[in-house]
Amino acid sequence: MKLISDPNQTSLIDRSLDAVWHPCTQMKHHESLPLIAITRGKGAWLFDDKENALLDCISSWWTNLFGHSNPRINQAITNQLEKIEHVMLAGFTHPPVVELSEKLSALTQSHLGHVFCVRWCLCSRDCLEDESSLLAPKEQTTKKFVCLENGYHGETLDALAVTDVAIFREAYGSLLQDVFTVSSPDARKAKSGESADDVARYAASALEKLLEVEHQNIAALIVEPLVQCAGQMAMYSPEYLRLTRSLCDRYSVHLIADEIAVGCGRSGKFFACEHTGIWPDFLTLSKGISGGYLPLSLCMTTDKIYRIFYGDQM
Ligand SMILES: Cc1ncc(COP(=O)(O)O)c(C=O)c1O
Repeated sequence: MKLISDPNQTSLIDRSLDAVWHPCTQMKHHESLPLIAITRGKGAWLFDDKENALLDCISSWWTNLFGHSNPRINQAITNQLEKIEHVMLAGFTHPPVVELSEKLSALTQSHLGHVFCVRWCLCSRDCLEDESSLLAPKEQTTKKFVCLENGYHGETLDALAVTDVAIFREAYGSLLQDVFTVSSPDARKAKSGESADDVARYAASALEKLLEVEHQNIAALIVEPLVQCAGQMAMYSPEYLRLTRSLCDRYSVHLIADEIAVGCGRSGKFFACEHTGIWPDFLTLSKGISGGYLPLSLCMTTDKIYRIFYGDQM
């Protein structure tokens, strides 16, 4: 790190390369590939320090659903800031969180609700159905997650464990919990004469084989509904989710739908799961939920799961 004597004499890009460690970036690449200094945004456009307009095709990592500097969102945030910026939800509540939670639940026709910030639970459905087992956690065996080949769920440790990206698994493998990885229903795998539904059925049958043998050791299957976005936008048939829902029911395994990338209208419906006619046991949202304005993520679940945690113990 250099001591900048006069920031006005040093370019923003040089200062950034010195002071900021940019994410998902090999910093050395910026020796030949210049950073772009953005000074403002409007709608789908970003503007650099020379007022060149750039179309934000990646919508700032798929977060920005309503355009940059959206007047309605700016106004809503300004109005809220005049009242209060944040208060913790342990012991407190406030109108925006209640209204958001009610609206989200209504969008699932009340199949899901109890909006909560994301935290994975390592209990299987069997153990959740037996409340007494929650009271004796030391006697429980640790259950594993099942994830899809080519899936992406984030880069914090447990999310990384269910992320099938070789570069991460190689670098951080020793820190990650053990998971099962099953075949992706990626429609691009279809051979000549095969449909996306055929690929979905093959992938579901691979999952079925695993569940037959290992279901007692499995807590949940996690999927990105319909599109594996970070996995090169791999799209797949809704049939896969219908089949996995019934397999998860048959083998008492939770189904987690990570709608962080595909949710909030990205697939044409508010939840991508709406295209499939099934609901998961847990559904996560982030990115679009705040239009990219604020770091908000949440998890919704069923009444049944909520009730199991409802008791005298923390
Ligand atoms: C499907 C999916 N899940 C999770 C994440 C990571 O979310 P976060 O950075 O909030 O952990 C991403 C980020 O791109 C994603 O696409």
